Amino acid sequence: MFSLHSQTRAKQLCKLWPLSLTLASPVGAEIDFSRDIQPLLSENCYFCHGTDPEHREADLRLDIRDDAIEAGAIVPGDPSKSEIVSRMRLAPDHEDLMPPKSSHRTLTDDQITLLENWIREGAEYSDHWAFTPSPSPLDALSMKSWSIDWKKED
Ligand code: HEC
Repeated sequence: MFSLHSQTRAKQLCKLWPLSLTLASPVGAEIDFSRDIQPLLSENCYFCHGTDPEHREADLRLDIRDDAIEAGAIVPGDPSKSEIVSRMRLAPDHEDLMPPKSSHRTLTDDQITLLENWIREGAEYSDHWAFTPSPSPLDALSMKSWSIDWKKED
């Protein structure tokens, strides 16, 4: 059981962490790509829109910011114009829903809202000092977690 004291302590520590980000970047201080966003994209999207050309769909890469922007999937500053958002917001039985129903992945409303806020704040992919090489170990891990009962339809 948590004592109230140690919980408060933990919260205070968590609040200290974004301070360093605030100093470094004028926007997006609260949402951190590698901590908050990359795991969501990696877990739900990169299998079909990531580094692996074998599984890549619609010629769309979401792991490279420029590619995602060029494709219109992400419009920095404007979630309502970003196709990733409109796709994720479709009804659960809609055939254009992303991630597709057949992938057995779903995003919660909170997760989609987080992605929207990240786009609204400029959709930065990482902090300037923390370049993340790709594919990251995280991608490799989440790739392995895929149950491949999903077949390519072409
Ligand atoms: C299991 C594979 C798979 C996964 C996982 C997946 N997609 Fe897709 N995606 C597709 C396929 C297939 C298409 C092309 C058919 C279509 O447009 O619906 C597509 C198309 C798209 C498009 C339109 C691209 C274009 O230029 O037409 C967007 C945007 C997109 N996906 C976003 C996402 C996002 C965001 C996620 C994760 C939340 C995701 N997808 C996860 C298979 C996948």
